[in-house]
Amino acid sequence: MTAPATTSQAKELRPITVPEFQAAKSRGTRLCVLTAYDFTMARILDAAGVDALLVGDSLGMVVQGQENSLGVTMDEMVYHTRMVARGASRCLVIADMPFMSYQVSPQQALENAGRFVKEAGAQAVKVEGGMRSVPAIRAIVGADIPVMGHVGLTPQSVHSLGGFRVQRNDAKLLEDALAVQEAGAFSVVVECVPIESAAKITEALRIPTIGIGAGPHCDGQVLVAHDMLGLYQEFHPRFAKQYADLGRAVLEAVETYCQEVRDGAFPGPDHSFQ
Ligand code: KIV
Repeated sequence: MTAPATTSQAKELRPITVPEFQAAKSRGTRLCVLTAYDFTMARILDAAGVDALLVGDSLGMVVQGQENSLGVTMDEMVYHTRMVARGASRCLVIADMPFMSYQVSPQQALENAGRFVKEAGAQAVKVEGGMRSVPAIRAIVGADIPVMGHVGLTPQSVHSLGGFRVQRNDAKLLEDALAVQEAGAFSVVVECVPIESAAKITEALRIPTIGIGAGPHCDGQVLVAHDMLGLYQEFHPRFAKQYADLGRAVLEAVETYCQEVRDGAFPGPDHSFQ
């Protein structure tokens, strides 16, 4: 199958491994990460040159239409990760461990992380939480499954945090990020923290920090693809720069289609068989 057309040089680049992703920090190369939830989008994002695709449990909101990510199940995550892994030829595929798939015990965490690798073709998993997630991270890394950590605003903690808000406890943020690194994570997402906190964490860590709402000093950035492409209309986080308005483009295309069907302009001779 041919890859989608690309305007970048991504198609000439080699597949990215976890050690290469990690080494980007010492090379000073900023890492580009986006979420993906299906084959078609994964193919396009991969061809455009992102370094990693995160199959985020944000799919609970932007694909399933739920209020938050808490209802997303392991089976649903495995299903979406499998589709993304089929579409990714160059970039790393990282599967997000959903709520209650790793909190019960290190054994549960390891078994579920193993499903992402074995059943879905992920190269790594992401686990939310700092200090509290150390036993889970250690267990997964102990089986040679690479783990991306996630500190700051951890959306699965929405109820205990009292909402999706900027996290400002500088000392705790640093303690959590260091704990994740010492537990063996190969990189860490830093979400919704002040610029100075993210800079301090990035400076203190050997592993790459991937920021979202964390300012420009992280080693890389991640965004929810549906936000940056203008596909998700329900909520626009301030940190999510919109690079396209695909929601409007789809709306206009479908309005035109409906119009042409109704007035008989489609299908014409080009789209019909003699
Ligand atoms: O679920 C997700 O998409 C995420 C990213 C926003 C980091 O966790």
